[in-house]
Amino acid sequence: MEFDQVVRKRHSVRSYLPHPPSDDDIKKILRAADMAPSAGGLKSRKIFVVKSPALRRALAQASLDQEFIAEAPVVLVCCADLDRILEYGKRGRELYCIQDTAAAIENALLKATDLGLGSCWVGAFEEEDVSRLCRLPQWLRPVALVTIGYEK
Ligand SMILES: Cc1cc2nc3c(=O)[nH]c(=O)nc-3n(C[C@H](O)[C@H](O)[C@H](O)COP(=O)(O)O)c2cc1C
Repeated sequence: MEFDQVVRKRHSVRSYLPHPPSDDDIKKILRAADMAPSAGGLKSRKIFVVKSPALRRALAQASLDQEFIAEAPVVLVCCADLDRILEYGKRGRELYCIQDTAAAIENALLKATDLGLGSCWVGAFEEEDVSRLCRLPQWLRPVALVTIGYEK
């Protein structure tokens, strides 16, 4: 798809068909996310792919019961890597790794649109609950969930 069209077409999708995107498409989305800029080129972010219906349901509950999170066949848990950004001190911890993650998220959303998939950036969730459910180590801070799937 032409770039301007991708940017125009992207919108938040909150209703999904059960049919999952292919692993190949998920890989393309992750690759696009990985190509986003980052402070010092450190890529201080990590993205986990969640397909398990039980975990998606639990993540929806941890996100103010936003039901579409359970409905989406794939949820990306996008985390800032506080360990990797260590050399930039407080500014790295509090700002750069969040920006690194946000840049990756936008690339992922645009690539999903390019592939004909719907997506939504979700920021409203209980961080501690998401960390516990995904068994995240202390140095990973969940910044956003991104739902992905075919729009209903
Ligand atoms: C930081 C951030 C947090 C967001 N959190 C949520 C959320 O928790 N739930 C939701 O449905 N949408 C969420 N959104 C999506 C916005 O509501 C959406 O992008 C905005 O309304 C503009 O609509 P559009 O994405 O269709 O252009 C979030 C977006 C951002 C950037």
